[in-house]
Amino acid sequence: QQKTLKDAYKDYFPVGVAVAPRNLSGPEAEFIVKQFNSITPENAMKMGPIHPEPGRYAWEAPDAIVAFAQKNGMKVRGHTLCWHNQTPSWFFTDDAGGQVTREVLLQRLKQHITDVVGRYKGRIYAWDVVNEAVPDTGTSIYRASKFYEIIGEDYIEKAFEYAHAADPAAQLFYNDYNTESRAKRDKIFQLIKKLKEKNVPIHGVGLQGHWSAYEPSEGELQESISRFASLGLAVQVTELDVSVHVKEHGRRERTEADNAPVAPEAFTRQAAQYEMLFNTFRKNRGVLTGITFWNVSDKTTWLDNFPVRGRKDYPLLFDGQLQPKPFFNKIVDF
Ligand code: XIL
Repeated sequence: QQKTLKDAYKDYFPVGVAVAPRNLSGPEAEFIVKQFNSITPENAMKMGPIHPEPGRYAWEAPDAIVAFAQKNGMKVRGHTLCWHNQTPSWFFTDDAGGQVTREVLLQRLKQHITDVVGRYKGRIYAWDVVNEAVPDTGTSIYRASKFYEIIGEDYIEKAFEYAHAADPAAQLFYNDYNTESRAKRDKIFQLIKKLKEKNVPIHGVGLQGHWSAYEPSEGELQESISRFASLGLAVQVTELDVSVHVKEHGRRERTEADNAPVAPEAFTRQAAQYEMLFNTFRKNRGVLTGITFWNVSDKTTWLDNFPVRGRKDYPLLFDGQLQPKPFFNKIVDF
């Protein structure tokens, strides 16, 4: 009998998966409970989906996910309270159709975080409070988002303070991608160091982990984990997938070349990459406090539509029939 992910890693960290309500019935639901002991809503708790209009929350989907976790004894990681994407424009617009003031936007952010974190108090053990606030390029450590432009750099610490007030026991994370690129890692490090110096209630850094068969290297990954841990923070891999395609940044149109079958070599590299990743995770026992996969299986992954709409990807440990890939044994038997 093959080990499951959650059993293999029970002495290391919870192993989670991002889900939508549609994943939580039928054979897929059973499969999720068998392999994983933590879940994250893939979209249902983002600002737009959960708070589509002023004063109106769409609790049905997030409630269903949290109830499923509780029923099955799984942890929940909340994702995400403040992000520049999937946020409705009403947040930034006043009654006259103009741009809100700093005071109004701070008030809305506070209300949103207080309501969402408050509703799930004691049931969500960790929150991605601020997502992707650091830009990939340029020298500024702050992405030029609406939150930054209207409120200023302190929107980040405010978000953490509101979340902490709403659930003092929840672990609060800053979450981002490309955390292994030296330039971006250094900027994230600076940002978090500033927050720590100001005693902002931040407890962890989430490395999204949207990686590929070709990157990052073990050294790059270890360096990121060690640097963030040196700030006294927990580190989690929050959105793990390993694309079989070479990484590209930013969306682009699909071309003829994208229809070609993936070369067998890419799958060989993917297997080696997954082995390296889990070896490194195990070496960081105590520092890495959670690993979450972004989607259940290769049947549907967000990478089928990112960065190229309609180009199939195969980034997970389980194939389209929910069967473990041939190298799965090396991940669970060590
Ligand atoms: C993605 C979801 O998987 C998609 O379904 C959605 O269309 C877009 O967002 N970084 C994040 C996640 O923090 O919230 C994103 O999730 C993937 C990138």
